[in-house]
Amino acid sequence: MSVETLKAQINTVETAFKSSLEKSAGQDGLEALRIQFLGRKGALTDLFKLLGSLPAEEKRLGGQALNQLKNLMNQQFQDRMNDLGESRNEQTFFDFSLPGDVGYVGRIHPISTILREIKSCFTSMGFSVRQGPEVETEYYNFDALNISKGHPARDMQDTLFIDESNEIVLRTHTSPVQVHVMESQAPPVRIIAPGRCYRRDTPDATHSPVFHQVEGLCVDEGVSFADLKGVIQTFAKRMFGSDMKIRFRPSFFPFTEPSAEYDFSCMMCKGKGCRVCSGTGWVEISGAGMVNPAVFKSVGYDPEKYTGYAFGMGVERIAMLVYEVHDIRLFYENDMRFLKQF
Ligand code: PHE
Repeated sequence: MSVETLKAQINTVETAFKSSLEKSAGQDGLEALRIQFLGRKGALTDLFKLLGSLPAEEKRLGGQALNQLKNLMNQQFQDRMNDLGESRNEQTFFDFSLPGDVGYVGRIHPISTILREIKSCFTSMGFSVRQGPEVETEYYNFDALNISKGHPARDMQDTLFIDESNEIVLRTHTSPVQVHVMESQAPPVRIIAPGRCYRRDTPDATHSPVFHQVEGLCVDEGVSFADLKGVIQTFAKRMFGSDMKIRFRPSFFPFTEPSAEYDFSCMMCKGKGCRVCSGTGWVEISGAGMVNPAVFKSVGYDPEKYTGYAFGMGVERIAMLVYEVHDIRLFYENDMRFLKQF
C-alpha cells in the first residue's frame, strides 16, 4: 500500500467523522460515535493498522498524517462533549444543599392601604363611596364646576387633553365626580370619591403627573362650614391620633364659596418645623369649601333650599405623612426595596 492510498482513506474517515459528529444527538449518540471512530476497534485504529503495510520510507509521512487525524478527531469530539455537558448541567444539575426558593408573597401598595383607611373612616361617618371616570369631558372637569374657559386651572400647563379639539381631558381632580353624583340623585348627598388624577406636572419630590385624591361632598338642608370642619377634624384625629391639629386658610376655588385650603399639623416634627413642612409646622392636604350655588344650578339643585360642603384630599400627601416618605416618586417606581417595607 502507498501513502497516497492511506491519505485517501484518512480523508474518507475524516469526512465521515465530521458529518456523523454534526448529526449526532445527545449523550448516547456521542458515545456511539466515539466507539465507531475512536474506540479500540474503531475506524482510527483500523487506519493505524494499515501503517504496517506501507513501504519503510513512507511510514513517517503516513504516521504524521494519522496523528494529525487522531488529534483533530479527539479535539472535535471533546468540544462536542463539552457543549453537551454544559447544556446537560444546566438542565439536570440540582444542588440539594441550596436554600429553598421562598414563594413571593405580594402585599398591598401603601397608597391602597391609605385609601382603604380613608374609606373606612368616612364610611363610618355615614359617607358612601362613589366613583367617576378618569377620562372626562371638559364640561365635567371644568364648566359644571364653574371653571370658565379663561380660568388658569384650564391652562395647558397642567391639563392633559387627549383630543385635538381640547374637549376630552384626563381629570385634573376628583371634583367632577361631585357633578356626576348630584346629576344622578336628589339630596341628601354624603359621598366620598377616591381615584386617580392627572396633571401635566414635572415629577419632583412632591409632584407626580399621576396622583390620587379623595373627594368629599355633603349636601342637605342646613349644612354649614362647621360641619365641614368637624368632619375634617374627626378624620385627622382618627388617621393620625388625637394630637393632630387642623387649620383652614382662606383660599379660592370656583366651585366653592367660601373656599379654604386646609392643613394638618406636621407629623414629622410635631409642629416644630422641618424639611417636610418647610419649617412651617403645617402640611397642606387640599382644598375645601361650601358648594358654590353656581354648581348647584348646573346640576339642577335648588340653591335656596340646599347647602353643602366639599373637600379634596391628596392621598399621597397623607401617605407621605403616615409613612414618613420624603419623595412622592417612590410610590410609583415599583422598587421592591421600597414597597416591601410596608
Ligand atoms: N379639586 C380641588 C383641587 O384639586 C380641591 C377641592 C375639592 C377644593 C373640593 C374644594 C372643594 O385642588
